[in-house]
Amino acid sequence: MGFLPFGFCILFLFFFCSVQAQQAYIGQGTNNCSVTTNSALGYSCNGVNRTCQSYLTFRAQPPFTTVASISTLMGSNPSQLAAINSVPQTATFNTNQLVIVPVTCSCSGQYYQSNTSYVVQPGESFFLIANDTLQGLSTCQAIRNGNSRTTVNIFPGQRLNVPLRCACPTRNQTGQGINYILSYSVTWGDMVSTASSRFDGDTNWTLQANGLTQQSATIFPFTTLLIPLQNPPSSIQTVSPPPPPASPPPPVQPSTPGSSSSKTWVHIIAGVVGGIVATLAIVGIVVYCLRFRRRKVKLEPTGTSSESFEAAEKKSTKNKGEEEPDGFFLERLSSIAHSIQVYTFEEVVAATDNFSPKCLIKGSVYRGKINGDLAAIKKMDGDVTKEINLLNKINHSNLIRLSGVCFNDGNWYLVYEFAANGALSDWIYSSTNGGKALTWPQRIQIAVDVALGLDYLHSFTNPPQVHKDIKAGNVLLDGDFRGKIANLTHARSAEGQDGDFNLTKHIFGTKGYMAPEYLENGLVSTKIDVFAFGVLLLEMITGKEVASLYKEGVDGLSGVVNEVLLSQDGGDNIMGFLDPSMEGNFPLEFAGFVVRLVEGCLKKNPGERPAMNELVQSLSRILTASLSWELSNNISEYRNLRDET
Ligand SMILES: *[C@@H]1O[C@H](CO)[C@@H](O)[C@H](O)[C@H]1NC(C)=O
Ligand SMILES: *[C@@H]1O[C@H](CO)[C@@H](O)[C@H](O)[C@H]1NC(C)=O
Ligand SMILES: *[C@@H]1O[C@H](CO)[C@@H](O)[C@H](O)[C@H]1NC(C)=O
Ligand SMILES: *[C@@H]1O[C@H](CO)[C@@H](O)[C@H](O)[C@H]1NC(C)=O
Ligand SMILES: *[C@@H]1O[C@H](CO)[C@@H](O)[C@H](O)[C@H]1NC(C)=O
Ligand SMILES: *[C@@H]1O[C@H](CO)[C@@H](O)[C@H](O)[C@H]1NC(C)=O
Repeated sequence: MGFLPFGFCILFLFFFCSVQAQQAYIGQGTNNCSVTTNSALGYSCNGVNRTCQSYLTFRAQPPFTTVASISTLMGSNPSQLAAINSVPQTATFNTNQLVIVPVTCSCSGQYYQSNTSYVVQPGESFFLIANDTLQGLSTCQAIRNGNSRTTVNIFPGQRLNVPLRCACPTRNQTGQGINYILSYSVTWGDMVSTASSRFDGDTNWTLQANGLTQQSATIFPFTTLLIPLQNPPSSIQTVSPPPPPASPPPPVQPSTPGSSSSKTWVHIIAGVVGGIVATLAIVGIVVYCLRFRRRKVKLEPTGTSSESFEAAEKKSTKNKGEEEPDGFFLERLSSIAHSIQVYTFEEVVAATDNFSPKCLIKGSVYRGKINGDLAAIKKMDGDVTKEINLLNKINHSNLIRLSGVCFNDGNWYLVYEFAANGALSDWIYSSTNGGKALTWPQRIQIAVDVALGLDYLHSFTNPPQVHKDIKAGNVLLDGDFRGKIANLTHARSAEGQDGDFNLTKHIFGTKGYMAPEYLENGLVSTKIDVFAFGVLLLEMITGKEVASLYKEGVDGLSGVVNEVLLSQDGGDNIMGFLDPSMEGNFPLEFAGFVVRLVEGCLKKNPGERPAMNELVQSLSRILTASLSWELSNNISEYRNLRDET
């Protein structure tokens, strides 16, 4: 049914192509080299001038990392390329650094192009040249078209003319003050809005220039997006992509519209200035120090002196002596866990009102007050030294912190930091959340938090750890709805004989969240967490438990997600797929993007799933964009109103 209006739209766009500012976005037209759409051959010659200065973006990739090699590849002038990127002509770029490539764009037949020539390397096809080497700045169709039509097979050493995709401003665009068109090579995680604003372009003009609309603004990696610019791009804009928002901003004050505005600015500034892992590391250290200090400060009003830490330390030494039978455990413990406090059983009993039912949170987890601080106290049996050992080594605000332990009569009592808003599972399933609903930005923030915590486990612990039981029940929310991963009982090292993979015979996990290779073959890798994270993300945006998402006649979860993605109904399907309790208050463009992230996480082949750090990056960008969106839509006001009623 949606087909007629859709077809009409296409006709409409097509008609206006020749008249208006628009060029058709190539979309997935790069994928099948035997199908040639018009837009695959190039952007049509509809500008004011038949020749103009234009710009491309290229991400430095070996062997194309120097000014000289990139200029040669792109047919650009090396001194101009060096100048616009503010580097000497002898410079080498870091891998993945964004490089601005100035080129002259001119009409050849009915399409704009910038010519370069390329010598085919062994094993390369038209597609590999266009997609992998040229990062979508050309297409297999255009390269084939630009060379003799008899060229069916290409051979190594053959020199090809390669038309790069560029365009000149149309009359409508020059009327709006546009002087240049940048052909931006889209990569994972880009959105129209983030790509445009990076170059000080206007999202609406970019949408218009590519024949996209706000409702259907899906863009794909390794395609070109035209970004109309008033001024030439500059090297400042090529700084690495924004980092994940400053790891865990220790949030305290309830956010007022004012403070959330300044928060957004912090994100934006952080995005512009920072961006490198080093920055993250520094932020991590600073936050760690701040947290540590905060804790110390918080202890003071409880009556203990400001030396409470030392006092506590002394006390724990004393306890060790008292609890003679368990001395061995505790000694082992104190050797591995310096920062973890050891409590007496009496303290735990007092904290939980003798394990009174009114303190029970769930299962064997109790709420308690220890040293004036709320804590979650979990009773466990068996050997928990592994978990304690792990929790002691890691320190990340998106992983629930273990603050103390107690051993009594064969049982362990682990004392964790308290998460005021409980488990994520209580908030996201429409059937159980009792009318409470998280907003879109809150959901994305929590997703970023979980991704950061997992990335930390996967990439910053040695050896890398796999959580193995990521699910909504194991994500806790603090007073500010920041997510913290809990329950590392089943976490284990990802390292096996082959480095990346590890086999296990003991399958443990939660149904629906387990990756196929783990269920079938017991293959343990960080990618099983990525799979589970995808399921969690899916639940978070749909408000449904994974079990209820499966559909008859559709192949698994990824089939369900693909069905939503592939339907061409201008977003209605995605709208209907998402949690109705958000009442449509989310930008459709971002929602579609998140659904695509989910699709990547659910890939059958673990090697095709993204790494956690890529997810952190993508989700952080959506978060930044969502917060700006929220601000401009005054959704926060709406939220406050709703909370009051
Ligand atoms: C030029 O672009 C504007 C949008 O900024 C559009 O409303 C207008 O119809 C276009 N004019 C022409 C002559 O294409
Ligand atoms: C590409 O398109 C052709 C013609 O429509 C089709 O026969 C072929 O299966 C397609 N290939 C892929 C990989 O989709
Ligand atoms: C078009 O060409 C004219 C004359 O060369 C030049 O002044 C003008 O800046 C060009 N416009 C664009 C958008 O390149
Ligand atoms: C680019 O190459 C095409 C042939 O592929 C040729 O017709 C055109 O004149 C060339 N353009 C420039 C500016 O050299
Ligand atoms: C296109 O190239 C990129 C970068 O090398 C690669 O990651 C991606 O898998 C390629 N796409 C396809 C469809 O092969
Ligand atoms: C972009 O277009 C949308 C819808 O047409 C409009 O609401 C928004 O204000 C525009 N943004 C800018 C910066 O012009």
